[in-house]
Amino acid sequence: MSWRGRDVVSMRDFSRGDLEVLFERAREMERYARSGLDVLRGRVMAVAFFEPSTRTRLSFETAMKRLGGEVVGFSSAEGTSVEKGETFSDTIRMLDAYADVIVVRHRLEGAARLAAEIAQSPVVNAGDGSFNHPTQAMLDLYTIWREKGRIDGLKIGIMGDLKYARTVNSLLEGLSLFDVEIALISPEFLRPRQETLDYVQSRGLRLRAYTRLEEALGELDVLYVVRIQKERFLDPLEFERVKGSYKLTAESLRGAKDDLIVLHPLPRVDELDASVDRTRHAAYFRQAAYGVPLRMALLSLVLS
Ligand code: NCD
Repeated sequence: MSWRGRDVVSMRDFSRGDLEVLFERAREMERYARSGLDVLRGRVMAVAFFEPSTRTRLSFETAMKRLGGEVVGFSSAEGTSVEKGETFSDTIRMLDAYADVIVVRHRLEGAARLAAEIAQSPVVNAGDGSFNHPTQAMLDLYTIWREKGRIDGLKIGIMGDLKYARTVNSLLEGLSLFDVEIALISPEFLRPRQETLDYVQSRGLRLRAYTRLEEALGELDVLYVVRIQKERFLDPLEFERVKGSYKLTAESLRGAKDDLIVLHPLPRVDELDASVDRTRHAAYFRQAAYGVPLRMALLSLVLS
C-alpha cells in the first residue's frame, strides 16, 4: 500500500513492505538531515501536543523544516482554547483547516484514532495513552536495521515497564512482522497486556518471559530498556512496589555479547545508568539522532 495521504495511528496498520520502503527512504534522508532537501516547500505541519515531549516533537519539527516545510502548533494545552473548554474534536477540526498533516500526542488512548476520523489531512500519532507510539517503534526498528544490517534472526531483549510503555507495545507489534526471538524482562506485574501478547503471538512472534536480566543477557543482540511509566500508574502504591526494580549499569552488561546494542526511547530516569554511556553497547543517542531522518522519510512519503 502507498504511504501517500495515510494516517499513522497504529503499527498494526503497516506491513513489512511499508517499513522497508520507509527504511530505505530514511537511509537516503540521513544525507539531508543537516543540509536539508527542499521537497515540502509551502506545506504546513501542525503539532498538537497535549502531553510533554522533547525528542518526538523536536525531531518532527526539525524534520519538517529540513524538508523546507513550515510548522505551527502547540506543545501543551496551556495557552490554547482548550483552557476555555474547547473540545478535542473542535481543536483537531481547526488544525485540519490550517495544515497538511497533523501530529498528535495525547494522554488518552484512542485520541489519535479519533483525530484521524475527524481530519481530512493525514494524522500522525506521536503517542496516545499507554498503547500506541508507532513512529517511535518505526525509529526503533530502523535503528536495529541500520546498526545490525538486518532485523531477521536477531534475539531482542525488552526490559522494564512492558505494561504501560506505549513504545514497547508498538515495538512488539512491529517486531511481529520479522523473524525474531524476544526476551521480555520485567517484574511479573509489569508484563505486557494479554491482548498485545495474544496479537503478536498469533502473528508468530516467539516470546519468553524472564524476571532477571542475567538469565537472558548472554544471548541477546539488542537490549531495549524503558523507564517505568510513573504517570500511567492508577495506584501510587503499585508504583512504589516496582520503583527501582531494575537498573542497567556497565557492570550488569558484563557477560553480554561484544556487539550487543542497548536502545532506549528516552527519557531515562534511573533504569539506565550513565555508566552505560561509555560502553561500546550504548546506541541510544544515535537512536535519538536517527529520529530526524526517519521522520523526514515519513513526512515525505505521507505528503508527497
Ligand atoms: C516515550 C514516550 O513518550 O512514550 N518517549 C519518546 O517518545 N521517546 C517514552 C517514555 O516517555 O518513557
